[in-house]
Amino acid sequence: MDRKSVTEILSPDAKGIARAAKILREGGLVAVPTETVYGLAARADSDGAVARIYDAKGRPGFNPLIVHVAELGEAGALVELDPRARALAERFWPGPLTLVLPRRADAAVASAVHAGLPTLAVRCPAHPVTRAVLAQVGMPLAAPSANASETVSPTSAEHVLATLDGRIDAVIDAGPAEQGLESTIIALRQGGGWSLLREGPVTRDTLRAVLGEEEAASGEIEAPGQLARHYAPGKPVRLGASNAQAGEFLIGFGAVVGDVTLSPSGDLQEAARNLYACLHLAKASPKPRVAVAPVPEDGVGRAINDRLRRAAAPAT
Ligand code: TXA
Ligand code: MG
Repeated sequence: MDRKSVTEILSPDAKGIARAAKILREGGLVAVPTETVYGLAARADSDGAVARIYDAKGRPGFNPLIVHVAELGEAGALVELDPRARALAERFWPGPLTLVLPRRADAAVASAVHAGLPTLAVRCPAHPVTRAVLAQVGMPLAAPSANASETVSPTSAEHVLATLDGRIDAVIDAGPAEQGLESTIIALRQGGGWSLLREGPVTRDTLRAVLGEEEAASGEIEAPGQLARHYAPGKPVRLGASNAQAGEFLIGFGAVVGDVTLSPSGDLQEAARNLYACLHLAKASPKPRVAVAPVPEDGVGRAINDRLRRAAAPAT
């Protein structure tokens, strides 16, 4: 695999943004801050640039990427936007909602981005720095989370460098991500149905209020990235723990005080924001096992528990 000798650390100002845009236009890889997690961006229209994303992450080729756009018009050149898609974009963009929509035959994206699927995932991120990068590059950017495949997602530039230092051209350091959990992903079907492919900051209940009832689950895994064991800190994880057993690093929540805590006051937004940082600390701890306090299955708590269940899934 090709290793870059140095990963540049860029500041989130006009100079850093201009440098990032130049690297990206030339087909390089830049980790950029979004409101959810840091993304590893490359030109979506370049086979070579997109291949470098898969290479840097060690990501299997069957797992397609989300294309990030500056505004709805840019998405319209890539996917078929029906009235529901427009309504959702109007309400939630820029923001943490990814739409899986029928891909246009003339969409200018590398085939590795959609991995051969007839659909394409699109999202307009809210972070002002990445919005400025998108505007300057002037074209859509493919971006998975900026971490090596099957490792804990990155909510800071430091987390990005933990697995990708030397493998990517640059990272823009804009401090911790505000939401802390990857975007909600939904698929809109041509027949009028929809389904939730990944839980996230925009909750199922909020989407139901806009779109009505979801289609019954097909039982098939549709977001291929949801299949693998993900988000794992590399040691056994026990959920629903009210205290630490011998050798466990305890991640607390509310009344359960741990080695670290998701939120001392039991606030779910704060817990979402802190989740991956806590898992990174658990991974770095000398303790051989991890335990996590119960988190209520409520609002964004559902997305937190989804990620925790994956973190706890036995290695395959
Ligand atoms: O918040 C986010 O969504 C972050 C930031 C960087 O935008 N990105 C992110 O990307 O989480 P990634 O690659 O880690 O997760 C993308 C997920 C994967 O599970 C992938 O399988 C799914 O989206 N996906 C992409 N295209 C799809 C498609 N056409 N149909 C179904 N699932 C798709
Ligand atoms: Mg990911």
